Amino acid sequence: MDKKMIEHYRYFLKDSVRLTVDFYQTDQHRGVMPPPVEKPLSGESRIIELLPPDEWKGIGSVDLIAAIKNRRSHRTFQHKPLTLDELSFLLWATQGIRKKVDEATAYRSVPSAGCRHAFETYLCVLNVSGLEPGIYRYLPLEHGLAVERHEENLTERLVEAALGQPFFGKAPVTFIWTTLPYRMEWRYDIAAHKVIAIDAGHVCQNLYLACEAIRAGTCAVAAYNQTLMDELVNVDGDDEFVIYTAPVGKVK
Ligand SMILES: Cc1cc2nc3c(=O)[nH]c(=O)nc-3n(C[C@H](O)[C@H](O)[C@H](O)COP(=O)(O)O)c2cc1C
Repeated sequence: MDKKMIEHYRYFLKDSVRLTVDFYQTDQHRGVMPPPVEKPLSGESRIIELLPPDEWKGIGSVDLIAAIKNRRSHRTFQHKPLTLDELSFLLWATQGIRKKVDEATAYRSVPSAGCRHAFETYLCVLNVSGLEPGIYRYLPLEHGLAVERHEENLTERLVEAALGQPFFGKAPVTFIWTTLPYRMEWRYDIAAHKVIAIDAGHVCQNLYLACEAIRAGTCAVAAYNQTLMDELVNVDGDDEFVIYTAPVGKVK
């Protein structure tokens, strides 16, 4: 192991960086407009409305202690579709908005450093009732889904982007979270990146626990081909790129 490199990467996990930031010089402090809570829609996107919490059908309540006890990673899924109600629930549980404060701030179902929530949620849908297979993006403010595109060979592209991990191809839906680092950098400058990584964990843990309520399962996956996964969800790989993925499906 290269000692210098190890030191360099360990530094990322520390909060020492904060001492090097002049917080009077951050974009927030200099009065730069904050980035929006949600990535604006491009062009004429078709929006599919999702069901709000009080209208879900077939979502059982689950004992929290049981959910935590039973949580584990699942890599084998039943050959069954997810319903749109179930998907609405999982999206709400992972990135749903609890309270909008203003154009740049909204509280969600998960915590986030400085309430910056530097993520977008894309879905690679292979088998969800009522949805054609394709790539979708969750719109937390509207609690809706933007249809990004439909295409052939989605399963093959997804599995290849996931470094050949075959369970991706069997999952009715894969959550693909991107980060837009500037949402966090606007406030924290170079102290933004560690907390973005921490925040991603909260999102995925809520997915694990929410899956327990619908007899579904997931597996957190951080090993993927960065370029191919970014291309799959059509992001630039610079100002927005994939940070975490999680295939979801029904389990026994
Ligand atoms: C950050 C992170 C990355 C992971 N990446 C992968 C992965 O690429 N492939 C995989 O099969 N599992 C992956 N996992 C799942 C772990 O292997 C799993 O959580 C671990 O073996 C413990 O099992 P449990 O989740 O059932 O408790 C990942 C988990 C985390 C939290």
